Amino acid sequence: MNVLIVYCHPSKKSFTYQVFSQLLNGLKIANHKILVSDLYEMDFQSDMSEEEYEREGLAKVENAIPDDVFTEQEKIQQSDCIIFVYPVWWSDCPAKLKGWFDRVYSVGYAYGYDDNGNKLIAMKKQKLGMVLCTAGHPNEFLDETGIAESMRKVMIDDRLGARFENKHMVILGGTLDMDQVKEKHLVKAFETGKNLDRFCTQHIA
Ligand SMILES: Cc1cc2nc3c(=O)[nH]c(=O)nc-3n(C[C@H](O)[C@H](O)[C@H](O)COP(=O)(O)O)c2cc1C
Repeated sequence: MNVLIVYCHPSKKSFTYQVFSQLLNGLKIANHKILVSDLYEMDFQSDMSEEEYEREGLAKVENAIPDDVFTEQEKIQQSDCIIFVYPVWWSDCPAKLKGWFDRVYSVGYAYGYDDNGNKLIAMKKQKLGMVLCTAGHPNEFLDETGIAESMRKVMIDDRLGARFENKHMVILGGTLDMDQVKEKHLVKAFETGKNLDRFCTQHIA
């Protein structure tokens, strides 16, 4: 598949970077074609400008799309699958990735309606959306408190939504006790890349 990875972490010394690297290794073994948007490396602008806000808020689809946003949309058009890799910060993705959704999911591209109420979506429907996030809290805690469910609702049901045929979220939790989880999480990241095609055809928890 043509795979776009949207990766968001400021440090190459991080555990999330190791997860990203293992995912890449797995994807390469399975011969996927890979494009990467490394949001910090690219210094991706996450704040919406006033002009962009007016385009979104007032649905002025005739207004120009900024070049950096257009570049990201072009990458999506070339892809069959998008994998989001990030650390959980305050029970959500980092602000830079949130800003990627704010700006790249522009009106007329990822959502919107014309004057007759017909859907106005130019974004290429993706076969698979995969979310791979690391979290300090163990998965059990995130499940018990409902935080995992709320993260799934926002990322999978809303941000990925009907734009993706198949959607999966893998929470690699418990990273505060790294000795306990490091190896199994890195294996999981590698296997996710290596067996990516399987996620398009069957539900894998
Ligand atoms: C600003 C910040 C906020 C965080 N918020 C959460 C959180 O809400 N829930 C959680 O489980 N872990 C949280 N963590 C822990 C990170 O998820 C954890 O550090 C990360 O998964 C793995 O570390 P890495 O930065 O080496 O990749 C937070 C960490 C930072 C730096």
